Amino acid sequence: MSAQPKEHVRMKIEVFFSPSQVDELFLRDKNVVVIDVLRASSTIATALMNGAREIIPVSTIESAVKISGNLFGDVVLRGGERNGKMIEGFNLGNSPSEYTADAVKGKSIIFCTTNGSSAIVKSRYAKNLSVAGFINMSTTLDLIKEMNEDIYILCAGKQSLFCIEDSVCAGMIISLLMNDESISVEMNDPAVAAAVLFKSMGKNLLRTVRATDHGKYLAEIGFKNDIKLCTDIDSVPVLPMMIGNSIKLRKKETLKPAPETDVPAQ
Ligand code: MLT
Repeated sequence: MSAQPKEHVRMKIEVFFSPSQVDELFLRDKNVVVIDVLRASSTIATALMNGAREIIPVSTIESAVKISGNLFGDVVLRGGERNGKMIEGFNLGNSPSEYTADAVKGKSIIFCTTNGSSAIVKSRYAKNLSVAGFINMSTTLDLIKEMNEDIYILCAGKQSLFCIEDSVCAGMIISLLMNDESISVEMNDPAVAAAVLFKSMGKNLLRTVRATDHGKYLAEIGFKNDIKLCTDIDSVPVLPMMIGNSIKLRKKETLKPAPETDVPAQ
């Protein structure tokens, strides 16, 4: 029996190089993929792979302290950074290497980072919100193909500005989708630029990311090995998705389908 031909899919992909380029109401009810390669995306995925119950993203330290409340230190931990370093009064910083099974299994982690968690908070009204990096590239691609709808990629960037590592990662997602003959991708200008950037800078990811502003800064403050962890393609093959107010591992039923279109009566 011959194989069924694959259905041809048309998909629009828009990229935003920084959360400052987009309003949270614009992202409402859209399919949003948030990227913060260094390091929030990579840390969130690692924590969930190692058994964390959930990650609750917040954009300020004050909210982290308030939300963790009475359960703090027991089943609730605080994780995150300011200037790349662990915040005073927190249990964990923002290095994926800290989020071992011993440290996070069964825990809810209130997570506050400078750019990554804020980008996630900004996207909280999305229809489907997933968290992506190089380390979960294939699971991200599988999700996008499965959604089969327009996609909005939000790069966390650095202090409201463009950063290379997130943009190259967005470009990798787009390039791999374009390699799939069953998908036609329509792009906005930043998406085209991201794909071009991946083509020119994506051959040696470790070298590329080491040479970025944030890569150099992390090495300077003692987190050189994190760059290796965060550029290791498909090393953390899970899919973090926003479910309610927290990020959990994706389950099949997590995905919200496209609304059914009315078929006019014949
Ligand atoms: C952020 O959210 O700004 C980052 O994840 C910073 C970091 O590398 O810790």
